[in-house]
Amino acid sequence: MIKKCLFPVAGYGTRFLPATKAMPKEILPILDKPLVQYGVEEAVEAGLTDIGFVTGRGKRAIEDHFDVSFELEHQIAGTGKERMLDGIRDLIEQCTFSYTRQIEMHGLGDAILKGRTLIGDNPFGVVLADDLCFGHTTGVLAQMVNLFRQFRCSIVAIEEVPAEDTSAYGVIAGDAISDRLFRVTDMVEKPAPEDAPSNLAIIGRYILTPDIFDILDATPVGKNGELQITDALLRQAREGCVIAYKFDGRRFDCGSIAGFVEATNYCYKMKYGESP
Ligand code: UTP
Repeated sequence: MIKKCLFPVAGYGTRFLPATKAMPKEILPILDKPLVQYGVEEAVEAGLTDIGFVTGRGKRAIEDHFDVSFELEHQIAGTGKERMLDGIRDLIEQCTFSYTRQIEMHGLGDAILKGRTLIGDNPFGVVLADDLCFGHTTGVLAQMVNLFRQFRCSIVAIEEVPAEDTSAYGVIAGDAISDRLFRVTDMVEKPAPEDAPSNLAIIGRYILTPDIFDILDATPVGKNGELQITDALLRQAREGCVIAYKFDGRRFDCGSIAGFVEATNYCYKMKYGESP
């Protein structure tokens, strides 16, 4: 039912300079796999195989990653190393990849609006690949696609964060539907702890209905001079419905060095059964 997934990857990744001076943040590897590949795998697990990237300057390595590399593949053909490319080859076979550019960085809302040309009039997923998510049973996006079948409205993934961290997130207030589900009544972008309506922070997974594009188009520039997706979602919530979902799983903020190291240690343990 939902086939399309948008990956806004145009940000500069300044928290990772100088690593991100000439290399996209999304290509940084957790163990042996780039962050963006984890994100695409999660989308595919949820049945979303039309992958759209909103890219920017210096991001061509992402396109190359989701393409064959003839010289390399010729070089390792017939060796034990061939199998190391199985995962990415499977993704390339299962998915279509489309690209558009955000010329100037005017915020996540603007990046999503630029993706309209790739999405059209369809509900779609959004993955911020620097938030690395592992579901306990199914992937986080797959959990959200299941919910969409029930609610048919935009859904944001949330998690509880320490009160002092609210200023790094969009934060919601909502009426509880169940332990994990809230109907959003308010949403504030990066509030100071004393202004935060709760400690329920939006993380980098969304299901959006396509009316979000017209709303974004009409939304004035918000906090930090950027077009904020939270401002558009708040209007959707007030005029219709937006669901916030406390997902079942773990999420690592790989846009920060501490989160990146934590994710690396977690994945090492998952893969090799012991800490590095
Ligand atoms: P971040 O807030 O993490 O910004 O963006 P950033 O530039 O990637 O990283 P820092 O803070 O400078 O280290 C959240 C997501 O939104 C995308 C980013 O690529 C990231 O996936 N984004 C943000 C855009 O695509 N365009 C923008 O104008 C802003």
